[in-house]
Amino acid sequence: MRVAITGSSGMIGTALADSLRADGHQVVRLVRRALASADEVRWDPRAADAAVDPKALAGIDACVNLAGAGVGDRRWTAEYKAEIRSSRIPGTRALAGVLARLDPRPATLVSASAIGWYGDTGQRQVDETAPSGGTFLAGVVRDWEAAAEPAAAAGIRVVHPRSGLVLSSRGGLLHRLLPVARLGALPTFGSGAQVMSWISLPDEIGAIRFLLDRGDLAGPVNLTAPDPVTNSAFTAALDAAVGRPNLPWLRAPAPALRLAVGEGVTELLTSARVIPKRLTEAGYPFRYPTLTKALSAELSGRR
Ligand SMILES: NC(=O)c1ccc[n+]([C@@H]2O[C@H](COP(=O)([O-])OP(=O)(O)OC[C@H]3O[C@@H](n4cnc5c(N)ncnc54)[C@H](OP(=O)(O)O)[C@@H]3O)[C@@H](O)[C@H]2O)c1
Repeated sequence: MRVAITGSSGMIGTALADSLRADGHQVVRLVRRALASADEVRWDPRAADAAVDPKALAGIDACVNLAGAGVGDRRWTAEYKAEIRSSRIPGTRALAGVLARLDPRPATLVSASAIGWYGDTGQRQVDETAPSGGTFLAGVVRDWEAAAEPAAAAGIRVVHPRSGLVLSSRGGLLHRLLPVARLGALPTFGSGAQVMSWISLPDEIGAIRFLLDRGDLAGPVNLTAPDPVTNSAFTAALDAAVGRPNLPWLRAPAPALRLAVGEGVTELLTSARVIPKRLTEAGYPFRYPTLTKALSAELSGRR
């Protein structure tokens, strides 16, 4: 298979490209900077036509669209919130248009999405049929998914993996929490009752590959492990994984967190119990269905 990937330098993109190449597939990396190797093609997600040479995409079977400014790694100023939106929606629309005009067209577009779609759902369990929520991120994700419409209208199978918190020691939330946990100073965030829907990086990659292969799946598919946990349980599991005692009395209250980190703390305080209904029904075999197993594999470097 020949697969084009945007955002291929990121945490998920790097692991996905490695996984595809290891199995003999060809990867075409859509990059925003000057080209540095033969497998790269320039694109500009801000240009209406993505400023990409369609000839460079000739013969691709699929495209995985992962591009977007980080959601959890910067303070959410008004400018940065605008960046979170504008780094995803116009680029996805432009890319979908380019794919729709290719001849032949690729069979599949896997266009990243997130469980942010659901907003804050408290303790209620949600699957792919749940409506989108009322938070800023829910609005971004709604428009991000809708932006891929030109590809679907052209007959390309469009899948939206709604990823949960992807756990990797190399990036994302776990990467940021690990140094604190190793110091034995990991607090419970807010009330600790908020539900965190997570997925191991190997399963995130395995599930994206599953979605690439399964021509019968389209639309939203939750990429979360079947074992969402409360923040208190997550903190206890991470403390255990790094060999530190759990300190349930050590708390970072929500107002203090909002003051210190700003609105972007939503990743830690939003509650969403998201179930991978479609993935499970389709028979995806999770490698790490439980948090303890996922953390132990990640921290021991076994993947
Ligand atoms: N990690 C998670 O827990 C998680 C959960 C749910 C959804 N997702 C979504 O999945 C996608 C990939 O996640 P990730 O964790 O691999 O993210 P990441 O490590 O932050 O990588 C995202 C990539 O997007 C590109 N990018 C960065 N800023 C951009 C901008 N302003 N405009 C356009 N492209 C930009 C960069 O690639 P280039 O420099 O190569 O262009 C970057 O490497 C993201 O869209 C993310 O929102 C991630």
